[in-house]
Amino acid sequence: MHQDIKKILVTEEEIIKRTDELARQICEDYRKEGKLPLVVGLLKGSVPFLAELIKHMDLDICFDFMDVSSYEGTESIGDVKINLDLHASVKDGSVLLVEDIVDTGRTLKEVKRMLKNKGASDVKVVSLLDKPDRRVVEIEADYVGFVVPNEFVVGYGLDYNQKYRNLPYVGVLKDEIYG
Ligand code: IMP
Repeated sequence: MHQDIKKILVTEEEIIKRTDELARQICEDYRKEGKLPLVVGLLKGSVPFLAELIKHMDLDICFDFMDVSSYEGTESIGDVKINLDLHASVKDGSVLLVEDIVDTGRTLKEVKRMLKNKGASDVKVVSLLDKPDRRVVEIEADYVGFVVPNEFVVGYGLDYNQKYRNLPYVGVLKDEIYG
């Protein structure tokens, strides 16, 4: 375990197992609907989860990325802006949006709205983590890996000041790290 981590909330094994379950469920649902989604990851937090998820998806999907501004430090700045837009067109297509965590829900709500404005016919969301206690706007992911308590978490894509994204598990930092 990394020296800055106080406790592990979700292990790598648990993440891989749950991601496989999610991928199967997602593919089954799209197959039933006769749709093939464009998988869209939100940079940078979704990268490890997206990489794991698509390996388990038995569909001929394409994926793309968007970068929207989110957190500075541990508090949401509440203002979502596009730093990097999609290369692919979403017009009249299905989108599966991949998130690391749904916290206040502001990012998700705004990005869903943007994708609908670009002409996406339907937008579903899969998020590795969900922190429902922190929600300030009414929005839910369609698929959730793990519900976590109201604590700031890092690892598996999630950062604190850009660090700890590469940890293979989700954990909580020691109090002294926040200085
Ligand atoms: P929201 O708009 O408040 O739902 O926040 C979404 C984004 O904030 C996520 O995609 C993360 O990048 C970041 N975030 C929210 N909670 C945490 C956390 O506990 N640790 C690290 N990043 C977080």
